[in-house]
Amino acid sequence: MDPPTLKSNVLKSSVARVLSFGVLILAVRFAYMVTVKGGSCVSGDFCFRTRRAATPRVPEDFLSATKKWRKSVDYYSSVFQDLVSEGFLFPNSRALCVETLAGEDVLALREIGVLDTIGISTNPTASTPLIVNGEALRQPFENDTFDFEFTGTFGLDRSNRPFDLASEICRTLRPGGFLVVHTATKDRYSLDSLLEFFSNCCRLIRSREIDGIDPLPSIREVVIKKEIPIQIQNLGHEGRNFSPNGNLVNKCSVPGHRREIIQNAEPFIQEEPLKPWITLKRNIKNIKYLTSMVDISFKNRYVYVDVGARNYSSSIGSWFKKQYPKQNKKFEVYAIEADKAFHGEYRGKREVTLLPYAAWVRNETLFFEITWDPSKKIVERGRGGMGRIRPVQSSASYMGDVDKIQGIDFAGWLKRTVSERDFVVVKMDVEGAEFHLVPRLIETGAICLIDEIFLECHYNRWQRCCPGQRSVKYQKTYAQCMDLFTSLRENGVLVHQWW
Ligand SMILES: *[C@@H]1O[C@H](CO)[C@@H](O)[C@H](O)[C@H]1NC(C)=O
Ligand SMILES: *[C@@H]1O[C@H](CO)[C@@H](O)[C@H](O)[C@H]1NC(C)=O
Ligand SMILES: *[C@@H]1O[C@H](CO)[C@@H](O)[C@H](O)[C@H]1NC(C)=O
Repeated sequence: MDPPTLKSNVLKSSVARVLSFGVLILAVRFAYMVTVKGGSCVSGDFCFRTRRAATPRVPEDFLSATKKWRKSVDYYSSVFQDLVSEGFLFPNSRALCVETLAGEDVLALREIGVLDTIGISTNPTASTPLIVNGEALRQPFENDTFDFEFTGTFGLDRSNRPFDLASEICRTLRPGGFLVVHTATKDRYSLDSLLEFFSNCCRLIRSREIDGIDPLPSIREVVIKKEIPIQIQNLGHEGRNFSPNGNLVNKCSVPGHRREIIQNAEPFIQEEPLKPWITLKRNIKNIKYLTSMVDISFKNRYVYVDVGARNYSSSIGSWFKKQYPKQNKKFEVYAIEADKAFHGEYRGKREVTLLPYAAWVRNETLFFEITWDPSKKIVERGRGGMGRIRPVQSSASYMGDVDKIQGIDFAGWLKRTVSERDFVVVKMDVEGAEFHLVPRLIETGAICLIDEIFLECHYNRWQRCCPGQRSVKYQKTYAQCMDLFTSLRENGVLVHQWW
């Protein structure tokens, strides 16, 4: 390193020494206040005495604090001193520790001289002069109250409504104020998910790994700054929050770590399989699920959309419920299925929302041709209302039932239904319509809402029945399917080959 940096480090450490001397004085002063005055109400109007006031056992609690507790306070002191020296925290900051465990972080802040500090916790045993007993999700504070908020690994990491907690923190933090989050999650994906929670109010200042506290050897420290509010214009988009200058497409420029995830995914089957009914089905064993690579804790909702769901057991029951790794999250399930033959079964399934439509590129009436075997159904969109129906080869099983059904604008529906804060898994088996739907998803930016997609691509595959013969149901070739899959991964979408 060059000399100026060294010099400034020396300077910094002597400043730190002077500061820690100050801290010692403050600590003594604080101990006096707590033990003698029995409460802490140091800064005029900003007084957080709990309703039960200070009970006599409080000082004893402090005095008999375990070594571990003291160690924890020291840990936070050093964390906060770094933040002071970097200008995120000041002695006159009004500070809040959200979901504090037993007030260690609160005491640490007061000890280093940030006297106007309080903690909030739902844990009723933790009620001391350091902590307000209350819900972090509904803080008893006005908007824009605090200059600084901190939430340790018992905050967002443990919350089962992390997005709502993030919003509440945004509310009570003043514009220009800083939030520091400690999290045990490590991968870039979860960091991005976390930041997405704050995207309406705040901006990332920095994120780094620091030494952790028992039992965590290291943790990630994220510093976020609340922005001065900007009036969000209504750009006429359907229902969702869009950034004032960007649409969804811009926001989903593919970050590097997404490319890394894709590189670590299973490779595509490049060679056209001679026995696709075996090769493609077996491929499920090779699939590297996104949820086996990244942490999905920082998501608002967990959503599974089965496009071309058929009957319940065909993929929702047999695969998604049983095999997809869900990290213990509860998923909302949507089944999009136009074929009436399957609808009855879903009436008894409360946990699945059925959309009795065909996923399409706009809202319009389509014509379906249905063969005896519902799994060999062919979808061909009508042209000029005339319903051009593709002939079916295997005439023996063909019953000639032409059906009129409603197609929905799938990309539009997705944008209205989920947001980037949600974790969205899609399975798509739409009998060739994928060559329309996927480009439409990319063009509208709706593709950015999908975290992982399992796609069956329909092409003129070799037939099981008749060696050497290709299916005539679909005109696309295997190469065209590979182009579709490749274009998705190039767009940063984790796509898997479905059978
Ligand atoms: C406080 O903020 C919330 C959301 O940030 C907003 O809905 C509410 O109107 C604000 N309240 C006041 C009194 O400004
Ligand atoms: C659902 O699909 C499975 C196999 O995919 C089939 O065995 C079963 O008969 C179907 N049930 C209904 C009600 O169609
Ligand atoms: C399509 O239909 C849905 C549901 O009726 C509606 O909310 C949506 O606005 C329609 N989209 C377009 C582009 O007309």
